[in-house]
Amino acid sequence: MNIALIRLRHLAFKLIVRTISFPEPEELVGNGLSSDVYKLISKKNYRKPLIVTDKMLIKMNIIDGLIESLRVNKIDYVVFNGVQPNPTIGNIEDGVKFYKENNCDSIIAFGGGSSIDCAKVIAARITNKKDVYQMKGLFKIRKKLPYLVAIPTTAGTGSEVTVAAVITNEKSHEKFAINDTKLIPAAYCLDPELLAGLPNTLTASTGMDALTHAIEAYIGWNGTAYTDKYAIDAIKIIFESLQKSFEDGKNLTLRREMLLASNYAGRAFTRASIGYVHAIAHNLGGLYNLPHGLANAIVLPYILEASKDKAYKKLATLARETGVVEGKHSDKDQADVFIGRIRHMNMIMGIPQNIPEIRDRDIPYLAERVEKEGNPAYPVPKILYRKDIENILRIIRGDASENQGLPTTFHKS
Ligand SMILES: [Fe+2]
Repeated sequence: MNIALIRLRHLAFKLIVRTISFPEPEELVGNGLSSDVYKLISKKNYRKPLIVTDKMLIKMNIIDGLIESLRVNKIDYVVFNGVQPNPTIGNIEDGVKFYKENNCDSIIAFGGGSSIDCAKVIAARITNKKDVYQMKGLFKIRKKLPYLVAIPTTAGTGSEVTVAAVITNEKSHEKFAINDTKLIPAAYCLDPELLAGLPNTLTASTGMDALTHAIEAYIGWNGTAYTDKYAIDAIKIIFESLQKSFEDGKNLTLRREMLLASNYAGRAFTRASIGYVHAIAHNLGGLYNLPHGLANAIVLPYILEASKDKAYKKLATLARETGVVEGKHSDKDQADVFIGRIRHMNMIMGIPQNIPEIRDRDIPYLAERVEKEGNPAYPVPKILYRKDIENILRIIRGDASENQGLPTTFHKS
């Protein structure tokens, strides 16, 4: 597809998004407030929530406060702990069955993006006569979901405010997204105490996922005043707090900041979309089982570098907003400082610079998939084609040293 047609699609998408109204969830934000979620349930006269979570969160007793508060306040509940790291259609069907067998009337999603995404689609399946695969894509959900409260236990996906759920078809190994404003939970609770024991490697990778959401939303073509504000706020918080939170995981003020940053980034990207960093991360994740946040963290500086000639003004704005530049410098220099700061954050948090697992024989296939995912879906500042992406994948693998820079063969957009 040529550039004019791709840009026309971006413009149409931008106009459509501006006409959509996004529901605003009720919010609880504060230490220990997951023990107050029962109030949201009882206020609405629901009596039996299904809690959707994973086995690890139960084993680590992170869910205990929520469960105890439901028990003490005499709200009956059942726990579905069958969510896998990449939730599958099978996980969703098991959850739907469990909900129906136990006559539940509401859902509490407790966990990282996987649990929240899984809960969203369980909820959609309860009220909609469609199988999971029929909901793939945009706006396929007709009926309102049962009451859904999301309690994130990582600060990265922002799934508590997004229209998206990413599901894996376990038979074909295909990962696909379901996007609909009806998937935005009715309420969410950001409780920093739940993140106090999160390993610092997860703090780093999930935080860099949130940073990628915010940057891709900001530098893309579909930003609005609303998404720009939330994206910039998220980026400022992440630059200020992520590294500190990585070093001092028990600091609840920093955990709260990062939960807010993830939420703000979610608000931004769910309206303004993402970009090639995610397209590459999704496909590397599928092929080499790389965790999503880690893949984003590694790929982010390379895509910013490759997009710099079309995005340097916005990157310079981010450099000034985050305070990483002082004095008078050109926009291009400020953009370089901003990208350098991301590399530095990765280095401090032990995130590798390269992905040596990328095999020569996989590169054409990966580039084709990335191009297919990104064009025309993502309103990126600079459009890249297959050959450009192949070059970038080689550089991500470590074929070229940083000093060599990127090849100059990028198509003009
Ligand atoms: Fe992401």
